[in-house]
Amino acid sequence: MRQSGITQGAGPKTFRVKSFGCQMNMYDGERMAELLAARGMSPTPEGEEAELVVLNTCHIRERSAEKVYSEIGRLRKAGGAHPPMVAVAGCVAQAEGEEIFARAPSVGVVVGPQSYHRLPELVARAAAGERAADTDMPADAKFAALPKRRRSAPSAFLTVQEGCDKFCTYCVVPYTRGAEISRPFSALMDEAERLVDAGAREVTLLGQNVNAWTGEDRRGRAIGLDGLIAALDSLPQLHRIRYTTSHPNDVTEGLIAAHGEVGKLMPYLHLPVQSGSNRVLKAMNRSHDGESYLLLIERFRAVRPDIAISGDFIVGFPGESDAEFEETLRLVDAVGYAQAYSFKYSPRPGTPAAQMQGQIAPEVMDERLQRLQAALGRHSLAFNQASVGRRCTVLVERAGRRPGQWLGKSPWLQSVYFSGPGAAAVRIGDMVEVELAAAGPNSLEGRVLELVPA
Ligand code: 5AD
Ligand code: SF4
Repeated sequence: MRQSGITQGAGPKTFRVKSFGCQMNMYDGERMAELLAARGMSPTPEGEEAELVVLNTCHIRERSAEKVYSEIGRLRKAGGAHPPMVAVAGCVAQAEGEEIFARAPSVGVVVGPQSYHRLPELVARAAAGERAADTDMPADAKFAALPKRRRSAPSAFLTVQEGCDKFCTYCVVPYTRGAEISRPFSALMDEAERLVDAGAREVTLLGQNVNAWTGEDRRGRAIGLDGLIAALDSLPQLHRIRYTTSHPNDVTEGLIAAHGEVGKLMPYLHLPVQSGSNRVLKAMNRSHDGESYLLLIERFRAVRPDIAISGDFIVGFPGESDAEFEETLRLVDAVGYAQAYSFKYSPRPGTPAAQMQGQIAPEVMDERLQRLQAALGRHSLAFNQASVGRRCTVLVERAGRRPGQWLGKSPWLQSVYFSGPGAAAVRIGDMVEVELAAAGPNSLEGRVLELVPA
């Protein structure tokens, strides 16, 4: 079949996609690479120069957005007389649109997160000398237009839901990713089956607000995320199911119960709380408070006592007092997080919080972030140390740094480096029974006990 586009004429023949930010961007980056490859372009190995560089950008904090412009400048300089064509994709493209051309004239293509299925056509137009931009937000045309999945790492991402209707007052996501949409059940089961056929043993279901996913199963019954998880549980070659990111207000009884019932659903929950102060949570428009959050965690722990809890935190939200910050530290101690992400508040253009009184001084934010991260680090270390002596399965993802060493993930999403007499027989994608022997704050060391038959 003759395809229109970039493989003809003077368009780029090689490409590199560089993704910044969240896991959904990683997923989008993989899909863009598949799309370009399906049009006859070749991916360039790390270290070699590509004729097209796609920067798949993040707009969540100011520093993430600024990285784009420094990367564009670097590419222009490094390319000398023949700089690569630069395509800006992702949330900066959505937020800034054609203004990017004015600020960075070397950019050829601007494409938003809901229209990247049009990337090859936009690249062809840019190769013909046009400035090509598309930041439309069609409901879900994108996924149907993408090529089928053919290759997969042992652990694969699968976007099931996009967008967010929560409008937390600090957050740009509802503006850059748009309103919540759920991909249809049958499309997701198809993609999951293909990923498994292509080598995936673990699938992480992704959504900005993943537990808002809804759909209809094959019999036309309305189901939620727990129904989708139950359907995926029946794929024989799939060993593990994960999902992220959850919002406390959209957690259902069924999802909690799934953690006690579905063997393939891993004991891990990423449930951002942002702050431990009810006044701050209200100003953030989070629509939950500290107490309801803690009760929710207790319900998960009642069905799955070993569940690893992860969260997101923002320090220095406008008006946050010392005493309110201390409430966040108390909540951290009450939960005992296995892992967490913490950020300094960053005012984002167009969000309500950027206009609020009481913006916090940078040095106060620095000090709060340090104290919070020290507390979170203590809890991660304690969680990992409590795993020492346990046996668990590890999904092997890649070779470790030392000869004969492998790196994989435990059910609790801990990175486990392991070696031992049986390690020579291990392959990437294997499930291996390991004894956990030593712990640090970010990883564990283990010893191979046996390969688990597929
Ligand atoms: N400033 C700092 N952190 C933010 N996040 C979202 N918006 C901002 C902001 N303006 C954090 C939240 C969210 C995570 C993905 O990023 O903690 O859960
Ligand atoms: Fe942003 Fe809040 Fe939506 Fe998360 S729930 S994406 S923080 S608006």
